Amino acid sequence: MAVNGNSNTGTNGAGDGGWRESDSDTFVDWGGYFVPHRDSQIRIICDLVAPAGNGDGYVELCCGAGHLGEALLRAHPRARLLALDGSATMRRVSRQRLEQFGDRAEVAAFDLADGGWRRLPWAPLAVVSSLAIHHLDGDQKRRLFADMYGALKPGGSLIIADLVEPTTRPSRAVAAWTWDAAVRQQAMAHDGAGDPYRRFVELDWNLYASGEPDPADQPSPLLDQLNWLTEANFVDVDVHWMLGGHAVFSGRKAA
Ligand SMILES: C[S@@+](CC[C@H](N)C(=O)[O-])C[C@H]1O[C@@H](n2cnc3c(N)ncnc32)[C@H](O)[C@@H]1O
Repeated sequence: MAVNGNSNTGTNGAGDGGWRESDSDTFVDWGGYFVPHRDSQIRIICDLVAPAGNGDGYVELCCGAGHLGEALLRAHPRARLLALDGSATMRRVSRQRLEQFGDRAEVAAFDLADGGWRRLPWAPLAVVSSLAIHHLDGDQKRRLFADMYGALKPGGSLIIADLVEPTTRPSRAVAAWTWDAAVRQQAMAHDGAGDPYRRFVELDWNLYASGEPDPADQPSPLLDQLNWLTEANFVDVDVHWMLGGHAVFSGRKAA
């Protein structure tokens, strides 16, 4: 099913220069090494969502290969999940991962930047997203936060794990080396030779270290995003974790 009729071809809704199907292939293969402490980030999000009663559910924006969705449905056995992504490859892989949950999980196409899907079929108890909101520019993020506030069930949360923009040159350098070090450590733990780290460097994946950052990557400063959450009327706005330019932060819609 496509939410409001979106489909995708070679690139998804990010448009020209946006996320490509080849990026999906790369990320499916290497994401577990390229993301610092992915298991911890996933656990933090699972801990932060309000526990779901029967009929309640979560919506995931840009679900990728479905790792977060799988963890959410395991941690919250009465929850359902609507997992959205613009990439056909990602939807295929996440459907395979989530089929174990039967009709508790639905995977659908959407374009993150589009407004149509934001009239969601049911009010979620949480909207979650990992490593995707940075494909929107600042104004689009601001609008997304306001729209998600409108879509959420009272008491529900918007929980984001994402790349954030360092505000100074030294803090960019810190983000670059701390991300690099985390990937090197994860790669060494994997095979003792660090092959995934070599791939990370070859692909120029660390946008804080890159001389030619991809224009599709538009991270915003963390403080701006916390302010946009507050402006959208979220309460309990907080940062839960941060390393290597990756942050997990959230806001709650008052009950
Ligand atoms: C870096 S991956 C992250 C995947 C997953 N959330 C994770 O953390 O493992 C970025 C994801 O965002 C999706 N994406 C990027 N731009 C998009 C857009 N404009 N509309 C829909 N999906 C988009 C990609 O297809 C991809 O699955």
